[in-house]
Amino acid sequence: MRRMEEYLKHKIFVVASQVAAEQNRKAFVIGGYVRDIILQRPSKDIDIVTIGSGIEFAKEVAKRLHPGIKVSVFKNFGTAMFKFDNIEVEFVGARKESYQRNSRKPIVEDGTLEDDQNRRDFTINALAISLHPDSFGEVIDPFGGIEDLSSGIIRTPLDPDITYSDDPLRMMRAIRFATQLGFEIERESLNSISRNGERLKIVSAERISDELNKIMLSKRPGTGFKLLNKTGLLPIVLPELEAMKGVDTKDGKGHKDNFFHTLQVLDNISKYTDNIWLRWAALLHDIAKPKTKRYSKETGWTFHGHEFVGSKMIPHIFRNLKLPLNEKMKYVQKMVGLHMRPIVLAQEEVTDSAVRRLLFEAGNDIEDLMILCDADITSKNPDKVARYLDNYKLVRQKLKEVEEKDKVRNWQPPISGEEIIETFNLPPCKAIGDIKQAIKDAILDGEIENSYQAAYIFMLGKGKEMGFEPIKKG
Ligand code: CTP
Repeated sequence: MRRMEEYLKHKIFVVASQVAAEQNRKAFVIGGYVRDIILQRPSKDIDIVTIGSGIEFAKEVAKRLHPGIKVSVFKNFGTAMFKFDNIEVEFVGARKESYQRNSRKPIVEDGTLEDDQNRRDFTINALAISLHPDSFGEVIDPFGGIEDLSSGIIRTPLDPDITYSDDPLRMMRAIRFATQLGFEIERESLNSISRNGERLKIVSAERISDELNKIMLSKRPGTGFKLLNKTGLLPIVLPELEAMKGVDTKDGKGHKDNFFHTLQVLDNISKYTDNIWLRWAALLHDIAKPKTKRYSKETGWTFHGHEFVGSKMIPHIFRNLKLPLNEKMKYVQKMVGLHMRPIVLAQEEVTDSAVRRLLFEAGNDIEDLMILCDADITSKNPDKVARYLDNYKLVRQKLKEVEEKDKVRNWQPPISGEEIIETFNLPPCKAIGDIKQAIKDAILDGEIENSYQAAYIFMLGKGKEMGFEPIKKG
């Protein structure tokens, strides 16, 4: 039998072991903590399962560790939790659970360690290590979890139809663990997910997005979306992405499969950034291609305006997924909306004014936008890739030159709406915005110099054109 006492040196385990002996109870470290020790991943929170009341056990262990520790008790769930040494420790009495079909709320009964292990999601998450001094460090692995860890397999302890139907979130967890750990989901499990996909609909959007975000933060998030596709969960989780699948052909001309292209962009960008919102932008950058797809004999396939339409689709997608509707979402919208601009700059003779406009609109996110554009190059032809990357190097160079000269990245137009109102004594009206915009355009287009003086004179002229006279000051 494998022993792992060398991993149980922390005071929490030592004290839990003493209390287990004194109270003559069995207690085990269980779940993700054990899995992560074996995988040599940084271990996070500790779960301890005991036979009998987890609450009493937790209170006693906490008292011995430090008399001041606050124990949070969740009576309904029979669990208790405290924080010690920056680690969250959760205690639970071993349970036997059965679930009602239309709810995630289980009916809970006391059980043995075996019952408790049976009701867990995966063999790799069902490993337990004994804390009782008689067997301290002994690993209890009834389903071959250690073997599955070493061969990289996600497998359920029970018949997968039971495990997934008990808690459908586990279908997302299977895909998330497979993506995070680079593991394979065992065939029976995959088939079962495909059969039980509809059950995901009883799971809250927040919990699904938690898993999506963990997929997004993996080394190769594309793997997760391929698995969502393969198991048929994709249309439930992100129907807009599902709509991107497939290739249409007309007059013998096809376009690229936007779904697989997108996943490659996502994997590409993940090599260069851990910024989850930039990764979301990569996933959603072409999201409006299905909506804007057109074909004509002259131009072939086009997706005109997909960046604008895509940017407008983001709030709806974020709302459905219960992702934050704050500046993170605005950032994703901005990236999606601007992602074609550097491409255009790279193709055409670059004018200073086009560069200034892009710098102004992207602001401090300009480098993120360029990272997205680099990642968007997915050609299989290495010459083409090299050429596109070179073009972007030129765009970057130009961005740098113009920024050094004109400082537009964090620029605000020198004349405010307030000043326009005061100068012409205007009531609130559309003209104020029009004048403000005209000043901004004139500066960005290089028609006038970027100074207060020049902008003021321009404003007077523009006002006059529109029939407004400045009021005399003083
Ligand atoms: N568990 C389960 N079914 C779930 C969620 C959790 O059986 N839907 C069990 C697993 O044994 C899991 C343990 O509860 O290891 C703890 O769950 P949690 O803290 O959510 O996840 P971890 O496995 O620790 O992994 P991570 O922190 O990466 O989510």
